[in-house]
Amino acid sequence: MGSNKKRVLSGIQPSGHLHLGNYFGMMSKMIEYQEDDDLFCFIADFHALTANQNSKILSSNTYDAVCDFIALGLRPEKTTFWVQSDVSEVTELAWILSSFTSVGLMDRSTTYKDKIAKGIKPNMGLYSYPILMAADILLFNSNLVPVGKDQKQHIEMARDIANKFNANYGDILTLPEPDIVKETQLIPGIDGQKMSKSYNNTIPIFGEDKVIRKKVMSIITDNASVNEPKDKNTPLFYLYSLFANSNEKQLLSERYDSSGLRYGDLKLELYEKIMDYFAPFRQERALLHSKPDDVKDILKLGAKKAKLVAFEMLEKIRSAIGLRLF
Ligand code: TRP
Repeated sequence: MGSNKKRVLSGIQPSGHLHLGNYFGMMSKMIEYQEDDDLFCFIADFHALTANQNSKILSSNTYDAVCDFIALGLRPEKTTFWVQSDVSEVTELAWILSSFTSVGLMDRSTTYKDKIAKGIKPNMGLYSYPILMAADILLFNSNLVPVGKDQKQHIEMARDIANKFNANYGDILTLPEPDIVKETQLIPGIDGQKMSKSYNNTIPIFGEDKVIRKKVMSIITDNASVNEPKDKNTPLFYLYSLFANSNEKQLLSERYDSSGLRYGDLKLELYEKIMDYFAPFRQERALLHSKPDDVKDILKLGAKKAKLVAFEMLEKIRSAIGLRLF
């Protein structure tokens, strides 16, 4: 490498159901980094294991997530793209880092507390989730980590852990900076809350046409009559705007201000726009999904590239802490 490109790293848990919120919130932004920076991107299947213990679902979700990313424009030859468990060095680093992580720090994890509050039974994997995430970040010397707001604390924990390690052994670990997706980039779901799988308010990207149509048609609206001007601070207006160029946005705004706008018509237009926008991605996704040998090759290459970096870093860490006798 030798260049002064930033190393940008992020992981995505395979959830098996990609939606507009994922794409416009995080993924498109992350994929853009491949143009000017050194992008490291992986599917976090070890993390998913803490909550998903159905082997078929875990593996098919992971496979789907890989196809999703590539179909949406991630270029495996330009980036380092892998499945987390294919580079198992990260679990060794997680173990090492756990000796530099106080129990109190883990006890303060808000994502952990939220999960427990939701009734999820805590296992040790869930508890030490932030340590594995710190290992993901620190193993690859990441400078910048783009994540959603809910993950900010995890990045701070990674910095805490790295500081503690460095204080003891010298400047070995790179301190990562978070790159948080702004509130304004949060995409509303069909009920107006933040679009999220857990709220069941998503519009899927790779779902069947009729499912997407049904979701779009059920976007919540007020009961303003056809002849009244309409409120623009609403999910339908926002979602439509995502697919409109500046002229179309202007036009949309004028339609909202004047009479004659029917929400039903607008929803149908939005459905068409969504289908048009994602048509090439959907085609690419279907093609790739049907070629597991190609997917396998892509992942093999990605794991090889990631392992090279991971191995070198881990050797440095092993010697620094006294695990290498000779
Ligand atoms: N915890 C992240 C999420 O749920 C996924 C993740 C795992 C991650 N390891 C990471 C994100 C490392 C950034 C860096 O969204």
